[in-house]
Amino acid sequence: MHICVIGCGYVGLVTAACLAEAGHDVICTDIDSDRIDKLNAGIVPIYEQHLDAILSSARKARRISYTLDAGEAIRAGEAIFICVGTPPKENGEADLSAIDHVARQIAEEAQSSKLVIEKSTVPARTGFELQRALGAYSRTGNIKFRVASNPEFLREGTAVADFLHPDRIVVGVEDDVSAAQLREIYEPILEHRFHCPVHQGKCPAEHKAPFLVTTINSAELIKHASNSFLALKISYANVIADLCEKIGANVDEVTHAMGLDPRIGGQFLKAGLGFGGFCFPKDVQAFIHLSASVGVDFDMLKAAEKVNKQRIDRYLEKVCKALWILKGKRITVLGLAFKANTDDIRFAPALEVVKRLVDQGAHVRACDPEAMDRAKHSFPQLQYHEDPYEALRDADAALVCTEWDIFRTLDWVRAGKLMSRKLVIDGRNLYSPAVMRELGFEYYSFGREPLSNGRTASGY
Ligand code: UDX
Repeated sequence: MHICVIGCGYVGLVTAACLAEAGHDVICTDIDSDRIDKLNAGIVPIYEQHLDAILSSARKARRISYTLDAGEAIRAGEAIFICVGTPPKENGEADLSAIDHVARQIAEEAQSSKLVIEKSTVPARTGFELQRALGAYSRTGNIKFRVASNPEFLREGTAVADFLHPDRIVVGVEDDVSAAQLREIYEPILEHRFHCPVHQGKCPAEHKAPFLVTTINSAELIKHASNSFLALKISYANVIADLCEKIGANVDEVTHAMGLDPRIGGQFLKAGLGFGGFCFPKDVQAFIHLSASVGVDFDMLKAAEKVNKQRIDRYLEKVCKALWILKGKRITVLGLAFKANTDDIRFAPALEVVKRLVDQGAHVRACDPEAMDRAKHSFPQLQYHEDPYEALRDADAALVCTEWDIFRTLDWVRAGKLMSRKLVIDGRNLYSPAVMRELGFEYYSFGREPLSNGRTASGY
């Protein structure tokens, strides 16, 4: 099928690449000329596992192209995926102006009937407004636009794998033709008819993802309800961690046992610095806003958001208790990205930590395998190190803020010899407190036994 993808960000590029891998002809467009130039030159502007490989094979097979001319892309696509940003406004409401802009372009440029699919995360009822806008902006009124919602559930870092091996595919439609067209688009993925870059073409036997056809409103709600539920789960685990610290229990033991109950499940129960990134914080805010706008009280979600914001305060309390005065201290921050396997630093808890350390006059060094280039724009005054051991040389403390594997497997015996003080404040619970104590470290983490060179430091 000829498919147009509008917006070449994380969602748009992964969608375009995977649909091309599935055998469709994809044309991508974006208002950012620099991005389109890079893509045309074969440069992938974001870091996402397998994306490079899949885009270059699609390019070689001539199944993907990029243009700055939105009209050209719109006219070429039978189905148009809208993958533009929906950032939060001051009041938490999703800013849908990019969707409105795209609706106008589609209505003005289309010369034949189109299936217009919202892939960006949008509040419920956006599909209804989109349908109205397409009708209102159309010059002739002769072209038929069918609107559908197809929420993405991609996690950054594993987005290609998530797209090609989905848990479920949700399509919100108002007519059978749109449902059939979307099934045709996803058929190669449902039937595993693609060369999988994740498993080198040899995917483990897996169940067929359910293809769920719902109304547009339901599909839109499914996305927000899913992300908000996961955010609730994380905040729940974080409150349990606080409770463990007061009571003298271990949050890892508690959440592990909880997760073995299939009704609860073990994922998204990791206590620590809390959730960040461009999805969870904004989706939670948008969902709270949407609920309030229709008179439904979602205090539960507000509480989850509050708990999450307080994680940074809780962490800085630990840092201040351990180091006493921050001014002049050499502090190494391990991890800047909002989570491992991405270069994305948007709403990253680590950056908020860095900001507060800098504000208090600490000398901050940072190490991150992928996110340093981006972080340099916001914090040019930091010292950046590719090598974590170099970053830790003469440090008064190591602050672990992102759960990258290179930090998980760090040789702390070697690091300890380089550091000026053997102090680790672990915001992601990566290490065993007992092991760190054996290695002679003062070690603090979330919701586990607080240790300070054998001295019990209550209240951490
Ligand atoms: C999320 C959803 O998972 C995905 O389905 C949706 O399409 C987009 O939003 P993403 O933002 O890539 O994906 O990140 P995710 O892996 O879900 O993690 C979100 C945040 O929660 C990260 O900051 C992560 O560190 C944090 N987190 C996650 C925890 O603090 N504890 C956990 O147990 C899990």
